[in-house]
Amino acid sequence: MAIRLGDTAPDFTAPTTDGELSFHDWKKDSWAVLFSHPKDYTPVCTTELGFTAKLKDDFDKRNVKAIAISVDDVASHNGWIADITETQGTAVNFPIIGDPDRKVADLYDMIHPNASDTLTVRSVFVIDPDNKVRLTLTYPASTGRNFNEILRVIDSLQLTDGHKVATPVNWSPGDDVIISPALSNEQAGELFPGGWDEQKPYLRVTKQPV
Ligand code: BEZ
Repeated sequence: MAIRLGDTAPDFTAPTTDGELSFHDWKKDSWAVLFSHPKDYTPVCTTELGFTAKLKDDFDKRNVKAIAISVDDVASHNGWIADITETQGTAVNFPIIGDPDRKVADLYDMIHPNASDTLTVRSVFVIDPDNKVRLTLTYPASTGRNFNEILRVIDSLQLTDGHKVATPVNWSPGDDVIISPALSNEQAGELFPGGWDEQKPYLRVTKQPV
């Protein structure tokens, strides 16, 4: 069953490179990025895991915990981590789930049989502090993901959760934002006293709130 935006992220207990964990207990009231890897000892995954480890400070600033999954066992992951440390110049500082029976991969619909019967696709789930799924991404095995984009989406989600705005095409933190179309001009005037550029009644651009 596909997981959709707004669904509660399914809970599970699984072995990981940091010991056994129960997903909801582990993430508590943080955000989480749960991302799958087709298989251990694969080149693209090696680069993705190294880059994600280097984002630790960026994740910490945003109250985000990373957790990876690959359908091999934890002993295999531990051998692979040594290679990641050596080639990517960083220790892996988040858990990698061991999932040889594909319990978690199936729970999150990470195996797409018409792509591969045995390997997961590259899935990403961004899950909020209330355990709601806020972003899903599915990439093919041969294409590494852009983790800067995942951070950008988290920035947008955290901004738009706190303010009645949406972020336009190619938005980056600090760029102008769009006032929620659900607000009347009178309501917008109270929330955005600095005003806005009304390009159309439904397209009101304002400075990013702080
Ligand atoms: C990789 O991570 O490099 C990879 C995995 C599966 C298929 C192709 C590439």
